[in-house]
Amino acid sequence: MKPSSEDEAAPAGGPWEECFEAAVQLALRAGQIIKKALSEEKRVSTKTSAADLVTETDHLVEDLIISELQKKFPSHRFIAEESAAAGAKCVLTPSPTWIVDPIDGTCNFVHRFPTVAVSIGFAVDQELEFGVIYHCTEERLYTGQRGRGAFCNGQRLQVSGETDISKALVLTEIGPRRDPATLKLFLSNMERLLHAKAHGVRVIGSSTLALCLLASGAADAYYQFGLHCWDLAAATVIIREAGGIVMDTSGGPLDLMSCRVVAAGTREMATLIAQALQTINYGRDDEK
Ligand code: IPD
Repeated sequence: MKPSSEDEAAPAGGPWEECFEAAVQLALRAGQIIKKALSEEKRVSTKTSAADLVTETDHLVEDLIISELQKKFPSHRFIAEESAAAGAKCVLTPSPTWIVDPIDGTCNFVHRFPTVAVSIGFAVDQELEFGVIYHCTEERLYTGQRGRGAFCNGQRLQVSGETDISKALVLTEIGPRRDPATLKLFLSNMERLLHAKAHGVRVIGSSTLALCLLASGAADAYYQFGLHCWDLAAATVIIREAGGIVMDTSGGPLDLMSCRVVAAGTREMATLIAQALQTINYGRDDEK
């Protein structure tokens, strides 16, 4: 089904509707740019590690999204991946704040692996209000608005009800670091879930799209150390509105700036996954 600029199944209205509509339009527009650039030559640079990549398209798309939103909503604040990489502080204040990942899955994008998305989240009073994620190569538009449900191309999303790890399909992402200590912990966490007899552990190269698959009920749990607030903001609303749980790896409430997360269709599953994991400390987005 093709995405439309309106979620047919979502009720109209709501205090941030104009912002939500702007996010949908910009995600679709950004998606066209990313889809076209996927097959073209790219200028690739590295950021925090050899596996943490950025291209001119990441910058182009982020500049487009921020400049268009600034024109419409001049008093709003922004947290965005490439601005943060350039030194902008990631501070979530009570002001209306847009949290933007221009291309999630940049490494996939560089390799022409078509699992890439644009992610736009929006928070007010430090509470996430809506999220829009566009999987541009598949033309799948995921949306969630607080209290109003989550949808993909107008079809309502519902998480899985699985509570047993031994029946679970689990998603994770590697994160940017490749030093031996981090890799050992990463592999050991995966091993723990396989010892617990999870049906499988999958890595698709895009945190936001993995989280959307969880929201769709196509997987039962997700965990990661080393993701950022722009990977998580939009997807968190979508998962919660699809009936799922997003929490800290300690088992406590989600901290958007903590660079770690467990999400699942059920609280039982999220708690079991959290208990199985060893922590990999990536610091905090708001302290970089
Ligand atoms: C990254 C991807 C990757 C995950 C990283 C993310 P980016 O986002 O989602 O799969 O392992 O932690 O930061 O850099 O492609 O926007």
